[in-house]
Order: sequence, then C-alpha cells, then structure tokens
Amino acid sequence: MSTTDAIAFWGGVHAARPAAGNPQPNARLTETVTGLPPGDALDLGCGDGGDALWLARQGWQVTAADISAVAIERLAALAASHGLSDRVITVRHDLHKSFPPSGFDLVCAHYLHTPFDLDRATVLRSAAHALRSGGRLLVVDHGSAAPWSWNQDPDTRYPSPQEVAAGIDLAPETWTLERADAPHRIATGPDGRTAEVTDHVLLIRRTA
Ligand SMILES: C[S@@+](CC[C@H](N)C(=O)[O-])C[C@H]1O[C@@H](n2cnc3c(N)ncnc32)[C@H](O)[C@@H]1O
Repeated sequence: MSTTDAIAFWGGVHAARPAAGNPQPNARLTETVTGLPPGDALDLGCGDGGDALWLARQGWQVTAADISAVAIERLAALAASHGLSDRVITVRHDLHKSFPPSGFDLVCAHYLHTPFDLDRATVLRSAAHALRSGGRLLVVDHGSAAPWSWNQDPDTRYPSPQEVAAGIDLAPETWTLERADAPHRIATGPDGRTAEVTDHVLLIRRTA
C-alpha cells in the first residue's frame, strides 16, 4: 500500500465526518499537561485538533501535524475561528516520510495508528530527539478497540507501553521513563454511544 493510498484513506476518514465545531482534548493529555509550564508543543497525527486547540488555550505554541489535508485545513480554520491562529501552526506530514523540525517542550501522539506503513519506533524516536532538555514525549495508544473504531480486526495485537518504549530504544542517560501503564476509561463514540476502553500510556522525559 502506497503513501497515496494512506493520504486517500485518511482524507476519506476525515471527510466522512462532519467538521467538529469544538473538538475536545484527550483525557490523557489534560491529566498529563495540566500544571506544566507552557512552551512549544508538537501534536503528531492531530486529527480534528481537540488536543492542539486545548494546548493553545493553555498558552502552548502548537505545531499540529497530520497526513490528511482535510484535517489540517479544518484545524487551521477552527483555530482562526477560536482566535488561536497565532498559537496553532498546522503542517501536513506523512510521518512515514518526513518529520517536523526539532525544538519542543512537549510532543504528543494520541492513537497514531494506521493500516498503512508507518515505522512508529522511528517516528517516536524522532519525537524524543525533537525534545528540548526537560521536555516530555506523551504517547497514548489504543489498548483495546472501541465498538466504533475503524479497526475491528479481532486479531489486532496492542503492544504494551513497555514494548513501545523498548522499540524506541532511548539511551537512559538522556531519556527517563516517567509513566508506562494501561488505564481504563469510558469513551464516547461519534454517535454518543459509550464503552470502556483501555489506553496504553507512555511518558518519557528528556533529561539532557
Ligand atoms: C486515530 S486518529 C487520532 C487523531 C487524534 N490524535 C485524536 O486523538 O483524536 C489518527 C490520526 O493520525 C493521522 N495519520 C495517520 N497516518 C499518518 C501518517 N503517516 N503521518 C501523519 N499522520 C498520520 C490520521 O490522519 C489521523 O488524524
């Protein structure tokens, strides 16, 4: 499957949904970032932009990256309509091929899963290297499938946060593992249905 297929697939996923007027941030982001001093943040696979907009409202300067032009264009328009254009930069990247320039106090990647080629270990290693000293990398992956997920493959295996950390393979002299666990939460789907889901949460801090 090619990059063109991935762009078409994710463009279709986003276009099939009505544009969100006020997308909400992910719970793991707000619980992790609340109380941190704002700085420069990078949101990988920003989707409809709930995380980017929330970060901007907390005073962060956000770069929001996604493979989908639909997602990026919608988020840029939303940021403008919420008076946050000066705090949210949107960039289109296929992270399989390119990565934004470094210099962040926070990089977050929520549910960056795709049925197409994406070397996540390489992407997340780039994300760790893109941090300034003291900055944090927050990776939140699915640990289970919600009933409304595009991926209903019963054979899907969800790597543990420890396995994801091992795959990134960061030098302990420079990066410290602050969190690696699998909490549950009640999620709400696009049609208002709720279900319990598991998150795989990884928080890494760059110390040098
Ligand atoms: C499951 S959605 C998660 C969106 C958002 N982070 C959230 O938590 O709601 C995955 C996102 O990653 C984006 N994506 C998928 N493959 C990508 C790639 N190779 N490069 C950049 N973004 C990608 C998709 O367009 C989509 O917005």
